[in-house]
Amino acid sequence: MGARENGTTSGLPAEGPRDRTAELAVIRQRAVDGLNAEAEARQHRLGKLTARERIDRLLDPGTFRELEMLRRHRATDFGIGDRRPYTDGVITGWGAIDGRKVFVYAHDFGIFGGSLGEAHAAKIHKVMDLAESSGVPLIGLNDGAGARIQEGVLALAGYGGIFRRNVQASGVIPQISVMLGPCAGGAAYSPALTDFVLMVRETASMYVTGPDVIKAVTGEEIDFEGLGGADVHARSGQATFVHDDEDDALGTLRYLLSFLPANNREFPPEGPVDDPVDRPCDALLDIVPHSPNQPYDVRQVIEEIVDHGEFLELQQAWAGNIVIGLARIGGHVVGLVANQPMVLAGVLDIEASQKAARFIRFCDCFNIPLVTLVDVPGFLPGVDQEHHAIIRNGAKLLYAYCEATVPRIQVLMRKAYGGAYIVMDSRSIGTDLSFAWPSNEVAVMGAEAATNVIHRRTILAAENPQDTRRVLIEEYQRTLMHPYYGAERGLVDDVIDPRDTRSAIHAGLEMLRSKRVSLPQRKHGNSPL
Ligand code: HXC
Repeated sequence: MGARENGTTSGLPAEGPRDRTAELAVIRQRAVDGLNAEAEARQHRLGKLTARERIDRLLDPGTFRELEMLRRHRATDFGIGDRRPYTDGVITGWGAIDGRKVFVYAHDFGIFGGSLGEAHAAKIHKVMDLAESSGVPLIGLNDGAGARIQEGVLALAGYGGIFRRNVQASGVIPQISVMLGPCAGGAAYSPALTDFVLMVRETASMYVTGPDVIKAVTGEEIDFEGLGGADVHARSGQATFVHDDEDDALGTLRYLLSFLPANNREFPPEGPVDDPVDRPCDALLDIVPHSPNQPYDVRQVIEEIVDHGEFLELQQAWAGNIVIGLARIGGHVVGLVANQPMVLAGVLDIEASQKAARFIRFCDCFNIPLVTLVDVPGFLPGVDQEHHAIIRNGAKLLYAYCEATVPRIQVLMRKAYGGAYIVMDSRSIGTDLSFAWPSNEVAVMGAEAATNVIHRRTILAAENPQDTRRVLIEEYQRTLMHPYYGAERGLVDDVIDPRDTRSAIHAGLEMLRSKRVSLPQRKHGNSPL
């Protein structure tokens, strides 16, 4: 065991100020060296960086200031009493990304597998407290084996302290988790409480109980990647982004932060307005087919509307029938929520509702205006959906929109039927501005289904039921299935030329820039979780 791990001093004589300073340099170097060479080589062999390399690549050069690098654990049992490495397996501190302050912690897998004991947890608690009180985003670079087994309840309590802080900081500062190794138990639960989770393929996994325990308890055999790898969690909705390597993950994290304010009392950073706000969006007339049943990719609509076509889509591989993400319009950061007609015809179902609801709540926490692009045939009918609580889950989406106080703009593009029309940020649940395209159809249901219900007897009694049915369908379409019915009644603020969508949204965002809403005093609402 080297002095690096077990001494209280460097072992150097320390007789005068210069000796003491030299001793300090040695001690600090030991803390910086951290990993033994073998552990470092193992990280690299696995395609992983060390904790310090990660921090170096994430932050602007030379900006990292470390906290508590000399902290060590005080456990004595199970042979770890004589192994007390500096840092205790987590590097904490602050630095800058694109000149904006962030707090960061990074597990060091080379020290007890990055597992969390009392001292390790206390360091994370401190950096979390500082991030919250100074209103600065918190980034966790996770590569740790969960609770440190040798420290028993102290390790578990350490996680409890992290979870409580995650929740307390929720909606106050953005919290972002990057998963860079096997993250077991508590190392998975804390990220689940944060706003964004980025995972790297092959090396990162998240699970509550690992493959060995699963095999012992249920007999199921599975490896780490299959159990909780990046692609698994992209599909489960647990991961916001998945990446092929760590550099890609850290690059996306930096880009993501460029859309976010530092805290809930600030506005998101505005971008340059070098894409003309009145640029006509001619392609929209071709992208969205006239027939309500024909699919298209709503991402093309988004890219046509937003600045430079730059759209950061979140949770792409989960609930593809709804698209969510961040972009700018005339420099304003916006959160986009859009039905996706090319997946399940863009219906709302349990997972789409969950996905959009959490995103809306995130945007509302951090003063990000919401732009909702509607083309929705309704909620997905089916026994499975009903039995798995589409009512409760759909209500999450409804709740999220109803409580959002950020600027809200709805664009009714093509169809908007039934409850799904209401839920997708309609005027009646509080959108600030509702625009419709001339081809929009808002109705309780599609014309054919509606005619079958209200004219069933007439059609049955008709001499020529087919012709009668067709005439009645056309009458229903003429009367109700256009945006002018809603516009005449104030449920649509304006029917716009689709090519003007970008400029209409931008004008709305400018108008709503100073929007302020006071809600009734309460501890918190009771969202249907
Ligand atoms: C202390 C641990 C540790 C742990 C690993 N190590 N897990 N030390 N506590 N939880 C140590 C190992 O002894 C080893 O030390 C070093 O870390 C590297 O571990 P390896 O097993 O050699 O690495 P690898 O093969 O890559 O496997 C990594 C691993 C595996 C998949 C993470 O170590 C593992 O499954 N560990 C147990 C994970 C776990 O069950 N954690 C508790 C979760 S419960 P040496 O000295 O040999 O280098 C939890 C409670 C909170 O977190 C839940 C709240 C809801």
